[in-house]
Amino acid sequence: MTQHLTAPAHTRDSTRPGWWRDAVIYQVYPRSFADGNGDGMGDLKGVRDRLPYLKDLGVDAVWLSPFYASPQADAGYDVADYRAIDPMFGSLLDADALIRDAHALGLRIIVDLVPNHSSDRHEWFKRALREGPGSPLRARYHFRPGKGKNGELPPNDWESIFGGPAWTRTEDGEWYLHLFAPEQPDFNWEHPAVADEFRSILRFWLDMGVDGFRVDVAHGLIKADGLPDLGGHDQLKLLGNDVMPFFDQDGVHAIYRSWRKILDEYPGERIAVAEAWTPTVERTANYVRPDELHQAFNFQYLGTAWDAVELRAVIDLSLDAMRPVGAPATWVLSNHDVTRHATRFANPAGLGTQIRTAGDRELGLRRARAATLLMLALPGSAYLYQGEELGLPDVTDLPDEVRQDPSFFRAAGQDGFRDGCRVPIPWTVDGPSYGFGSGGSWLPQPDSWAALSVEAQTGDPGSTLELYRSALAVRRARPELGAGDAVEWLDAPDGVLVLRRGGFVCVANTTSEPVTLPAYGQLLLASSTVRVDGDAAEVPADTTAWWAV
Ligand code: NOJ
Repeated sequence: MTQHLTAPAHTRDSTRPGWWRDAVIYQVYPRSFADGNGDGMGDLKGVRDRLPYLKDLGVDAVWLSPFYASPQADAGYDVADYRAIDPMFGSLLDADALIRDAHALGLRIIVDLVPNHSSDRHEWFKRALREGPGSPLRARYHFRPGKGKNGELPPNDWESIFGGPAWTRTEDGEWYLHLFAPEQPDFNWEHPAVADEFRSILRFWLDMGVDGFRVDVAHGLIKADGLPDLGGHDQLKLLGNDVMPFFDQDGVHAIYRSWRKILDEYPGERIAVAEAWTPTVERTANYVRPDELHQAFNFQYLGTAWDAVELRAVIDLSLDAMRPVGAPATWVLSNHDVTRHATRFANPAGLGTQIRTAGDRELGLRRARAATLLMLALPGSAYLYQGEELGLPDVTDLPDEVRQDPSFFRAAGQDGFRDGCRVPIPWTVDGPSYGFGSGGSWLPQPDSWAALSVEAQTGDPGSTLELYRSALAVRRARPELGAGDAVEWLDAPDGVLVLRRGGFVCVANTTSEPVTLPAYGQLLLASSTVRVDGDAAEVPADTTAWWAV
């Protein structure tokens, strides 16, 4: 049972200086959030209609995964036109209305930017193919002749992150590079036209009023000179962190320095957050130096088990890495590429971030709720993924015939089970798609999701939704939770974390037994029932509690 012991204030000025340093940013995956036109696919109208829900939830900003014109070979991460909205999501007018409504509610809007690759249906790539070898358009991508007697072998040994070779041969015999699906050719960022085009795309969306960008594959834009073979090195998986000749090359930083200048030209602190898989958090910090991007996702944190020693280590490591560059740490537990944390924590540790088994659901949810309260007590900015506030598990039993994740269809790639975290959100207890829309849902929702719907959870003090609402309200009322760049660790028994931030203490018991600890002050909130008896408090297994001291 959640404990909600306070009725905190709700408002915080979204235009305050440094708004992004401690912002809670909610990721909307547009195709799965809400369907405004009844075609079974989420859209911008659906998002717009639900903005009051997000405001009420208490987040500061909304990051939208791609909604651009796209053949959807990788759910929109294959962009055919960076300045157009795909008709399945709406129109530029819908985007404009969404941005305006969000701002009127005091919510910031962050859009996804996909600069590493385009769609193979992008005008440049279509022309490059049409015009054949020697076309100047080919120089904007990585076209190469093949190896072997007749050029029948790929130019190097790189493999796609989705499986199979990273090269596809065209009808005229040349090969082109795609680190992801063949429908996602990589841009050649050494070509000035590519850099110019993206500076112009940035301005287009900044002029539309967006507050920032989430930069897809921010570490991939520059490839090592000569595209050298990997040799015997293992190929990379999604979110992998090995050193690779196509990732985390030093040349990417000049690009971000030029982008930062553009962002800074606009009023209101427009920001960019890097999706950068790097070998170390120190390498990640390079992306958020004062003249580069503002934030970078903390995938090391996302991959950490529910274990006090490991959590403390990654929290310290992250804060220590960001402090020298003056960037806020970020924290994230779920997104559209990984198994939801309620399911990761339902399974034994060490299985990675792509899990196929439901595990012990009750345990997973209990730990997920506790993990979220710990995350929201840390200094910096936190990212939430739609549906985690409902405690949604991953759908681990989707039949193969409904799957759409491109990596599922490519042999020897990463596991390809990302559809499980992309199942549309249940809003209501009844209805054909639990209120997602009037026209069904592009991936089937489990029957058990009626009880997890927004409607079912609203007003239930024990629900995960109300836990999130309370937690975000406390965080807004007590800026010390997200502020600063350090935590003070207090003595704690094995398996327990106790951290202090000014007049606030967070206790996380990661063990499977209750622990008796001091009652640190006034209990603000807990992920399950904490019993206070005089100066002592019994914190149950897998529980986080917040105290005002
Ligand atoms: C990272 C995105 O989050 C993922 O969904 C996508 O498949 C790849 N980048 C390729 O754009």
